[in-house]
Amino acid sequence: MDSFTATAARMPSLERRIADDPSGFRILTGERPTGALHLGHHFGTIRERVRLQELGVETFVILADYQVITDRDASDGVAANVRSAILDYLAAGLDPERTTIFTHSAVPELNQLLLPFLSLVSEAELHRNPTVKAEHAASGRALSGLLLTYPVHQAADILFCKGTLVPVGKDNLPHVEITRLIARRFNERYAEVFPEPEALVTETPELPGLDGRKMSKSYGNAISLSMTADETAALIRRTPTDSERLITFDPERRPGVSGLLQAAAACLGTTPERVAEEVGAAGSSGLKTLATEAVNGFLAGHRSRRAELAQEPGLVDDVLRRGNARARSIADATLREVRSAMGMGYANV
Ligand code: TRP
Repeated sequence: MDSFTATAARMPSLERRIADDPSGFRILTGERPTGALHLGHHFGTIRERVRLQELGVETFVILADYQVITDRDASDGVAANVRSAILDYLAAGLDPERTTIFTHSAVPELNQLLLPFLSLVSEAELHRNPTVKAEHAASGRALSGLLLTYPVHQAADILFCKGTLVPVGKDNLPHVEITRLIARRFNERYAEVFPEPEALVTETPELPGLDGRKMSKSYGNAISLSMTADETAALIRRTPTDSERLITFDPERRPGVSGLLQAAAACLGTTPERVAEEVGAAGSSGLKTLATEAVNGFLAGHRSRRAELAQEPGLVDDVLRRGNARARSIADATLREVRSAMGMGYANV
């Protein structure tokens, strides 16, 4: 059994424990602000965060801005991406009164935890991380010190607030594992300070891009939540399909047709096979009409809330200022505990 299957198997009992006592948990999750949030994020993570918030679990969402430069030189667009993500969070129902939204760059005490944490892992352990290896290969560049060590930084993201639940995708499971290892080693070496967090994975299969490849802004196959209805229609119109009249769900042979079916199905809450039956022999143009209506219908509420929020002067700054201040005060308290545990309490006076 691989670690995803093993983690997924633990979910029903974990869900019961959360429902029984939501106040016994603290969630920390987040993403890199590398582009606009899209439909895949909505179904994969954002919806799940809102659900957990509504269950009454205290939630922290980090916009991991220092993680942007792990595999690229420039942090171009990072400011716009941070603002855009916050509008999407609010439009989707994350409530800044209950969910703390913050960035790496505003919380120096969190970043400082990286130093003792780095001492708790070996170079060999860092090199073994399969996600780091894959990201390094995909980057086509030399392995930077930050790319090699970012899972330890991510441990600081999670442990600064003593997070106990970490909703993540499959590729981030190794990072939760290293976080547990660091928590355990710190507690053994110094004093019991950190809980060992658990990963929370959802069964929802990843939504592919419109053309059937991985949904990614760089492939131009992603419907971002911030697009207009017209931009969405144009993107769907441009998606390469084929000339067979009868629409069928066949991801191997008909990637474009199948990507459109999956987007429509996710938005309609049904299966791609059902959507295919509905389109029948109406061909690609029938499919594109249906997919456009499904996606635009589904996103209409989100987009109008988002547009209204974008009009409120100072709203995004205010959410960030409050989130960063709260994250900082928690990080400060944790760093003090860490220094005391390490015999460096003199730094706390
Ligand atoms: N590595 C995560 C991603 O790219 C983003 C992230 C940074 C994160 N810090 C985190 C996720 C802490 C969960 C917890 O998807």
